[in-house]
Amino acid sequence: MSSGPHVIAIDGPAASGKSSTAQWVARRLGHYHVDSGSLYRAATAVQLERDTDPETWTEGEVLAGTRRVSFVPSEGAFVPLIDGEPADEKLRGSEVTRNVSRVAKMPAVRNWVNEQVRLAGRAQSVVVDGRDIGTVVFPDASLKVFLVADPWERARRRLIQRLDRHPSDQEIAEETDLIVQRDAKDSTQTVQATDAVLIDTTYLTQEDQVERIVALANAVTHRPGGTSVVDGDSDLT
Ligand code: DC
Repeated sequence: MSSGPHVIAIDGPAASGKSSTAQWVARRLGHYHVDSGSLYRAATAVQLERDTDPETWTEGEVLAGTRRVSFVPSEGAFVPLIDGEPADEKLRGSEVTRNVSRVAKMPAVRNWVNEQVRLAGRAQSVVVDGRDIGTVVFPDASLKVFLVADPWERARRRLIQRLDRHPSDQEIAEETDLIVQRDAKDSTQTVQATDAVLIDTTYLTQEDQVERIVALANAVTHRPGGTSVVDGDSDLT
């Protein structure tokens, strides 16, 4: 087993199940969960309080606002606090979701997020989900996974989560359009590392996804020398 904290990187497009999968994998492995998107959301939420017209936002202003955000360990996860207060509901709001891609395009904000996430991973073993974790933030991660799923299925899952009932085909079609638009906005930073294991979750349950990643993580961490690269064609995928 290698020494030092382990990093497991889980990347993929919007609504591919990254965050909930990462959270469960972290619990199973006794690692901390780090949702890197939550930091982009926190920066966006702060900026929305300062200025409600996103067209006028500048990188410098958004970066200055991040001083109000801290990223702290709490109950198995690193969570962003705004002015020292939990902000989860604010971060998931539709106004933040609509504008966060704009903030995620700002290089200075990306540097700030990457620094927070790396600090978390230096202190603890972590399961980090995002878009560029395996390529930019932790290119030496013990294990890299890239999750994909059919847009219709991603829309269906997201609506079930949000509405707590089965959505109509019409609702799924509308949500699919939104997801495809978000994919396009985030496409430049959503990159599969060449040494990532690709998992298509379209026909997998949440439990299956978690089991596969836990098995991959155990295979990597129990291998002599520890952090060697997992074969992208692994038959676990
Ligand atoms: O995963 P999410 O929906 O919470 O992500 C919010 C936004 O942040 C989305 O526009 C993608 C962006 N993001 C990113 O560019 N890089 C990351 N590592 C994580 C999220």
